[in-house]
Amino acid sequence: MKTTVNGSRLTAHELKVYIRTFGCQMNTRDSEIVIGMLEEHGYKHTDDPKEADIVIFNTCSVREHAEQRALSALGYLLRRGAKHKKRIFGVMGCVAQHKQEKIFKSLPKLDFICGSSDIYNIPLILSQIINEGKVNVVSVSKKDRGKRSIKNINPSYREKEKEALVNIMYGCNNFCSYCIVPYVRGEEVSRPVKDIVEEITDLVSKDITHITLLGQNVNSYNGKDGKEDIDLIGLLKQLNKIEGIKKISFMTSHPKDAKPSLFKAMRDLNKVDKHLHLAMQSGSDKILKLMNRGYTSAKFIKLVEDFREIVHDGKISTDIIVGFPTETEEDFNQTKEVVEKLRFDNAYIFKYSPRPPAKSSEMADDVLIDVKKRRHSELLELQREISREKKGKKFN
Ligand code: 5AD
Ligand code: SF4
Repeated sequence: MKTTVNGSRLTAHELKVYIRTFGCQMNTRDSEIVIGMLEEHGYKHTDDPKEADIVIFNTCSVREHAEQRALSALGYLLRRGAKHKKRIFGVMGCVAQHKQEKIFKSLPKLDFICGSSDIYNIPLILSQIINEGKVNVVSVSKKDRGKRSIKNINPSYREKEKEALVNIMYGCNNFCSYCIVPYVRGEEVSRPVKDIVEEITDLVSKDITHITLLGQNVNSYNGKDGKEDIDLIGLLKQLNKIEGIKKISFMTSHPKDAKPSLFKAMRDLNKVDKHLHLAMQSGSDKILKLMNRGYTSAKFIKLVEDFREIVHDGKISTDIIVGFPTETEEDFNQTKEVVEKLRFDNAYIFKYSPRPPAKSSEMADDVLIDVKKRRHSELLELQREISREKKGKKFN
């Protein structure tokens, strides 16, 4: 069937799709799903934006910087695209979910925006643009904060040959006060055990040996196995039995839900990766409370100590935010003290940015940018030193 793309005659199988991914592993997996679906519809994937007929940006809105970077890179491409070749441009992911129609104000030449909730609609959206000449198409479901429906689409495209990302749940119900995720990724929903096992069994038949289970907060996984409710430990036990898998990793864990029973499972299940990513965010109880994290610094320290006692060869990484509203030098020093005490294997350190409608955006962003920068580099340097000592390698 002949179709029209902005004036030039093309068939779907001649169209090349390029997706640029920003942000987390969940976005990486969503890009793979979209590429896989489009390949099934006859499109071709390309890694080169210059030769692409369709350019999609899969965006992240967790931090302001990431959001800006995606939108300005897209703005640049749109301007160049106008000069060079006529293409279809789209935005998917968290920024699309978050900003919705507003994006067209700054990027009027954009052909479509598609929220994280609606990625399964992308083949349809493209067909509407190509075949019906639709412009400025919006597909953003707002139901239950953009809750993802569970679809068992298992398109074959995976970025890596031996490793694969597998979603076990979508969304987040935690509402940490700084975080936009619950507003853009929707209500928590766990995939049924059977679907996950089937997807992984299929991956194993394609020679994949390392699986990373994904969720915003995998500790609250609560999937059905027939009529039974299965938690993360139960899921890991089942997956550990699948022949052909060599390594099972999972991320991200929330300290309020991580328990010694999980650490014991990590110790006892031979295929489960002994690496725990446990986001601390701050070492100050005052800040943790304002962040709505649901634990104190002492509780976090105890959890890490429990993990180290149970999983002897285990590794721990963390996330830390500096410059949260009202963070004083004293609060920051408490964070530094915990970092010195716990000696993480790796830490990702971020400067706070307000992300409306997340709750903390109602507080004054009162830590000066120079202070945030200084705290950020102090902590980065401290962690670099620790990582170097522990592994002889640089991180972050
Ligand atoms: N400002 C800075 N960092 C943030 N993160 C989430 N929201 C914000 C924000 N508003 C960080 C947290 C989280 C990681 C994925 O991003 O540390 O764990
Ligand atoms: Fe955001 Fe907190 Fe949910 Fe993580 S657990 S995605 S930081 S709200």
